[in-house]
Amino acid sequence: MSTSILARVELAPRDPILGVTEAYNADPNPKKINLGVGVYYDDKGKVPVLECVRSAERLMLEHPSPRNYLPIDGLPAYDRAVRALVFGDARAIREERVLTVQALGGTGALKIGADFLRRINPGAQVWISDPSWENHRALFEGAGFQVNTYPYYATATRGLDGKAMLAGLAEIPARAIVVLHACCHNPTGVDIEPEQWARVIEIVKARELVPVLDIAYQGFADGLDADGAVVRQFAEACAPVFVANSFSKSFSLYGERIGALSVVTESTEEAARVLSQLKRVVRANYSNPPTHGGQIVATVLATPELRALWERELGEMRERIKSMRRALVESVQARAPKFDFSFVMRQRGLFSYSGLTKDQVGRLREGFSIYAIDSGRLCVPALNSGNVDYVADAIASVIR
Ligand SMILES: Cc1ncc(COP(=O)(O)O)c(C=O)c1O
Repeated sequence: MSTSILARVELAPRDPILGVTEAYNADPNPKKINLGVGVYYDDKGKVPVLECVRSAERLMLEHPSPRNYLPIDGLPAYDRAVRALVFGDARAIREERVLTVQALGGTGALKIGADFLRRINPGAQVWISDPSWENHRALFEGAGFQVNTYPYYATATRGLDGKAMLAGLAEIPARAIVVLHACCHNPTGVDIEPEQWARVIEIVKARELVPVLDIAYQGFADGLDADGAVVRQFAEACAPVFVANSFSKSFSLYGERIGALSVVTESTEEAARVLSQLKRVVRANYSNPPTHGGQIVATVLATPELRALWERELGEMRERIKSMRRALVESVQARAPKFDFSFVMRQRGLFSYSGLTKDQVGRLREGFSIYAIDSGRLCVPALNSGNVDYVADAIASVIR
């Protein structure tokens, strides 16, 4: 037997979402549909290249800048633009106590934040919603934390279990870390209501919890400002606040890996100290971020016509998702009138927690080549005018 240190390495379990995509890719059925992914598709089933991105790239081609190393914390113009977009004119911004570090997507932002928090607060534990984006657990466990859950979703009402959530949050030990989805909760599509956010903030303050706000879908629920409102409320009310944002979805720049981590601190001087430590984390991970994605986003956000174009394109994505929700609900309802599918209309963002069981998801796959993950989470923008009725037929058939 081999004595190599690799000889006993175990095969890791397959990522459940990527596993679905592999099975989908291998399926020869021309009618196959992948509802398992977390990506926005247009009505032709393509991942769009936004016009604002094309225009920014044209400008960048006309005025090429050297591909030198970026500063460890990223392109300064990008970091400034992120702060303005996410925090608006929050008092903490005016008081110059918010720092931003360009990151490799929202995932990279969470990773930098998790590593930093582990360094400064190794005894703390982390709480994520039940359920949550699976990578939240993996990222914080990977940083060395014990990860726990707080109540969130109520299967019976297919909505938020607000009472249980608030009671659960109130029991978290003081100074623990709590991860919150600012909008478009993944995987449920069920968001915290504004009046409940006020209670969440009170609890966070009273217990001196460290909130990590994950905002990967700003602009996909009600609009950029409305979706960012909760981040501003936190910034007004407490410090520290950690905010991980992503442009993967809102700019359709998945592969560019572009996001940021911002931290609201108590003073400019504290911000400088925190930034210096975050830079150490980045330096020891990947040294400094890549140039292209940050330049695109900074160019679009700083050029008024491109910014307006982006907001229009983002609005079109948001509205198309809503129209697909409506089309799916109406189409399923027409085929299965006794089944109340209307809750799907109340969900926000890319995802719908459809209520389909693991068995029903299996029947969608076997009988119709429709691929979803076992939790029943569906990616709504994978629906389009050409396939929504086929999906509704299939759902109606498996729920009967
Ligand atoms: C809740 C949540 N946070 C963070 C991310 C990470 O996004 P990115 O692809 O920018 O790393 C995602 C992506 O699916 C997400 O759903």
